[in-house]
Amino acid sequence: MPVKIARSAPRPSFGLPELLVASTPRVSLATRPERREYSRQFGSHPGNPGLIELGTKMTRGIGQDYDCEGELKVNYDDSLDRDEAGNGLTLFPLINQSLGTPKLLDWMMSPSEKVALIFLLEHLRPKVAIEIGTRYGGSLQVLSQFCHRAYSIDVDPDIPRRLEGKFPNVEYLIGPSDQLLPPLIDRLAEEGAELSFALVDGDHSAEGVRKDIDNLLRFRPIVPLYIVMHDSFNPQCRLGLIQAHWSANRYVHAVELDFVAGTVNSAPNFRNQLWGGLALGILLPHERRGRFEITGRAERTRKAAMFSPEIRFKQFTGRAKRTLPGRVAVKAKRMLIG
Ligand SMILES: C[S@@+](CC[C@H](N)C(=O)[O-])C[C@H]1O[C@@H](n2cnc3c(N)ncnc32)[C@H](O)[C@@H]1O
Repeated sequence: MPVKIARSAPRPSFGLPELLVASTPRVSLATRPERREYSRQFGSHPGNPGLIELGTKMTRGIGQDYDCEGELKVNYDDSLDRDEAGNGLTLFPLINQSLGTPKLLDWMMSPSEKVALIFLLEHLRPKVAIEIGTRYGGSLQVLSQFCHRAYSIDVDPDIPRRLEGKFPNVEYLIGPSDQLLPPLIDRLAEEGAELSFALVDGDHSAEGVRKDIDNLLRFRPIVPLYIVMHDSFNPQCRLGLIQAHWSANRYVHAVELDFVAGTVNSAPNFRNQLWGGLALGILLPHERRGRFEITGRAERTRKAAMFSPEIRFKQFTGRAKRTLPGRVAVKAKRMLIG
């Protein structure tokens, strides 16, 4: 049956409760093995919160803005069926194609983050790269593909065994990055290495992020150096990103906190927390002139999410609930959500 979607003038949803307006039994998408695989990989991680499913669920809030005829199922990021959720663009075949593999390793990023990372590395083709946060080798499979040589740091001692034989051009460094990164940077500086890419995705505390970036900023670039930080939407990570001493380094020419914007997470363990997003800092071999500013093009989006009743309620539970904003948030939540 044809489906017509016509956008009317945007209207606030007034926090109306969700209403199931259509439902059609159909063959489960999760019966396809590749979809099951992606569900398994992405169903529960903060890097993959908001993926569109095909389905039949509509909310009244959305329904006010869309005129739906026939049967249309739109499964939003908070679908209860995690096995059905999280497919869609994760199956984007160009990702597999550009990495030359039909099967990817577990990769804790959203589709847009993956595409952005692939784009950067495919065009930079770094001679030398550093990754902080190896985990299952998700982002490392891209670094290994497009870099001549890569160093991957993680505290997990199991990693060299887990990824044995997979990435011959990668050297694993096991231990905390604040201890391993300074000697690595010194070594690369002595070698005159053309370091042109670094991914910061290890310790997600504000202090951990700040230290990783400040240690990377000790390197004087010989070629353009791109520093990418994952989870820039998360308040702790964002604080670390802002506290890092970017401006003191004359080779830093640009820092964008929301190169890719993050989302409000819907996975049970991270529900209503802000995760995801890629920040990007660019260092050039020559000194900058003039004023330096950090940009954050999704800050209003992030603030709007932070100040939504659900998120504030989450943030102000417990001790902070007694503060004025906490009480307002609780009251607002009662009024809007019940
Ligand atoms: C989110 S995972 C990395 C995901 C990976 N980059 C990807 O895209 O698939 C974070 C990793 O950082 C590691 N980690 C946490 N704290 C660390 C630290 N202080 N130094 C080095 N690695 C750390 C954890 O062991 C974990 O494997």
